[in-house]
Amino acid sequence: MKLHGKRALITGAARGIGLAFAEAYTREGARVAIADINIDRARQAAQGLDGGMAVEMDVTRQDSIEGAVAEVERELGGIDILVNNAALFDAAPIVEITRESFDRLFAVNVAGVFFTTQAVAKGMIARGQGGKIINMASQAGRRGEALVAVYCATKAAVISFTQSAGLDLIKHRINVNAIAPGVVEGEHWDGVDALFARYENRPLGEKKRIVGDSVPYGRMGTAEDLVPMAIFLASSDSDYVVSQTYGVDGGNWMA
Ligand SMILES: NC(=O)c1ccc[n+]([C@@H]2O[C@H](COP(=O)([O-])OP(=O)(O)OC[C@H]3O[C@@H](n4cnc5c(N)ncnc54)[C@H](O)[C@@H]3O)[C@@H](O)[C@H]2O)c1
Repeated sequence: MKLHGKRALITGAARGIGLAFAEAYTREGARVAIADINIDRARQAAQGLDGGMAVEMDVTRQDSIEGAVAEVERELGGIDILVNNAALFDAAPIVEITRESFDRLFAVNVAGVFFTTQAVAKGMIARGQGGKIINMASQAGRRGEALVAVYCATKAAVISFTQSAGLDLIKHRINVNAIAPGVVEGEHWDGVDALFARYENRPLGEKKRIVGDSVPYGRMGTAEDLVPMAIFLASSDSDYVVSQTYGVDGGNWMA
């Protein structure tokens, strides 16, 4: 087991990729806190995790971040691994993007990552045992996309923050790295597909089929495809890896 005795907090882990990571970390011997704005679903998800817990957390609110981090530190005795996974997606042509959508996406996808990292890193530094911080970026952070300007900009910010935070925190033996998935099956992409259907005038499901067919590997990704990288970046195998963003995308993007 790669994560025996470790304690992990994963934001937005009530479903999707975060939940798959929570299950995988548990299999590897960690105790995992599922932190999500949707506490009912987080509780349901945590029931399936040996030694796991659920905590209500809205990454856009400083009091919620600090309260949730303190609760997890109290319950588990500390946090060794943080996955900044919670994020929102939206799509619209440039001239239709609303300030409300812009502010909401930056609040969750960027400020949420910054201030959750800060809150967790303080405890890691105080305990003096290092730690692992994994940010969920995206292929969307590598290249702009018509209709997706705001989400792409938030994920570019996550890649940049990963570089700076990694350089600042490695002296405390805290590794900060990121995963950039391509297109991953799940409820998230059902929402993405519906937005493209509206703006590109397509039947539901068509965009999903097209993006899946265009992946060099030959299909959309699954959350399980990302799990080995998430375990690597959370384990001591990645101790000498600092500030990197790894594409796990079936060949969509070559860094
Ligand atoms: N699915 C993909 O194709 C894909 C591709 C590239 C990157 N990603 C990234 O991977 C990560 C996980 O994606 P997913 O597909 O599992 O997403 P998802 O939409 O299925 O899950 C996101 C979770 O975040 C939670 N959340 C939303 N706002 C929150 C807030 N303010 N505070 C706390 N939790 C909140 C939601 O309740 C949900 O449980 C995201 O960062 C996403 O941008 C996903």
